[in-house]
Amino acid sequence: MAYDLVVIGSGPGGYVCAIKAAQLGMKVAVVEKRATYGGTCLNVGCIPSKALLHASEMFAHAAHGMADLGVEVPAPKLNLAKMMAHKDSVVKANVEGVSFLFKKNKIDGIQGTGKIVAAGKVAVTNEKGEEQVLETKNIVIATGSEVAGIPGVAVEIDEKVIVSSTGGIALDKVPGKMIVVGGGVIGLELGSVWSRLGAKVTVVEYLDTILGGMDGEVSKQFQRMLAKQGMEFNLGAKVTAVVKSGNGAKVTFEPVKGGEAQTLEADVVLVATGRKPYTAGLGLEEAGVALDNRGRVEIDGHFRTNVAGIYAIGDVVKGPMLAHKAEDEGVALAEILAGQHGHVNYDVIPGVVYTQPEVASVGKTEEELKAAGVSYKAGKFPFTANGRARAMQVTDGFVKVLADKETDRVLGVHIVGFGAGEMIHEAAVLMEFGGSSEDLGRTCHAHPTMSEAVKEAALATFFKPIHM
Ligand code: NAI
Repeated sequence: MAYDLVVIGSGPGGYVCAIKAAQLGMKVAVVEKRATYGGTCLNVGCIPSKALLHASEMFAHAAHGMADLGVEVPAPKLNLAKMMAHKDSVVKANVEGVSFLFKKNKIDGIQGTGKIVAAGKVAVTNEKGEEQVLETKNIVIATGSEVAGIPGVAVEIDEKVIVSSTGGIALDKVPGKMIVVGGGVIGLELGSVWSRLGAKVTVVEYLDTILGGMDGEVSKQFQRMLAKQGMEFNLGAKVTAVVKSGNGAKVTFEPVKGGEAQTLEADVVLVATGRKPYTAGLGLEEAGVALDNRGRVEIDGHFRTNVAGIYAIGDVVKGPMLAHKAEDEGVALAEILAGQHGHVNYDVIPGVVYTQPEVASVGKTEEELKAAGVSYKAGKFPFTANGRARAMQVTDGFVKVLADKETDRVLGVHIVGFGAGEMIHEAAVLMEFGGSSEDLGRTCHAHPTMSEAVKEAALATFFKPIHM
């Protein structure tokens, strides 16, 4: 039987594209080589890391966040095996959820490794080595990304002592000392998990700031908060070697600006220096599908590769490697294939770092606006002046709203603080509608909520906040 659509890869990009296409009446198959659906995000990424982030947060909170609220409990005891079992059960529920949705939408899930033979033909080889060829009108490459390793440095990741994020969410004991190579999202999220559970965590980062690309003020304040929680930072430091040594590993790094190298030892080293598009074994070369100079599948504004009938979305193409960006591309592409006008607004893609406090942003940073020569106004409001934050003892952080100086249109919103990852979406909706800081500042916000700080920062942008 011929399909309308065969999707290769069942991560957030692929599975969402498949469901949307099926909802729009297409006959769809999804090829997945893992035993379960959901890709990196559901199996070994976003979802399990959030289970550990939450559980470790509860542990830290029970240890020193409750006495001042008048809740006195004995020092908590860590049951790491149980915490991991919680994580595993969350993963199971999510991947089974995708399986259920495939059945509900009459999508054929095909276990095996997919290879594009030519436009319209995908060969799938299962674990036993048996091959079948699927005939289809359209093919979507949604194969995601893999660990990039440290550029120019040969590192043997054994997922026990030298780990990527995959091993970093599955350690069987809390390391005494952990070195995190790369102060990006993965490094800081997983670094905080193990730091809260008792590890001494040192981050070694090439750039002068953590979370490169985030608003500079946010990243500076965030680093201070993490340092207060016990994390150490070596910034402007280039890691040149990671080698196993005894039961642990050694990390050598040197100042980027030049100077003497130093070597630190740790029980576990987390390598979190980025991810790269995953295209190995897909048959792209044979099928004539072009890659760009960074190894990503090249697409046009409608997700089309250079070969008719072959499309690509998610981490394997340009743009931020974020699950929700991939999902939105999946929906837009399914709509396009159904003759509709799917579209993704790349100017309004929120980014969230799920530490405690969270960091969230949407739109442009001050640095980007300066570089583009845009004249803008900035309004800021600290959570120290927010009643709800005081009541919950989460006064660390602030909201910053950036708006066009002439038109007042909101161009970027940056939040560091408790619940930032939820609060950011009112800014995203506002920006989707081209709203101004006055629109946001005049929108009634429930009292007392953390979100009032968003309203106050907007008020500060176009006039003055009330509570400051
Ligand atoms: P990243 O690109 O966020 O950070 C990697 C960091 O490693 C950079 O700051 C870079 O300067 C540094 N680095 C590179 N080479 C180095 C060297 N030799 N020495 C020292 N530092 C070096 O990559 P990360 O954290 O591995 O995440 C991978 C992808 O997954 C990202 O695209 C990220 O957006 C995504 N992700 C998103 C999450 C979220 O949205 N909450 C959570 C986890 C991952």
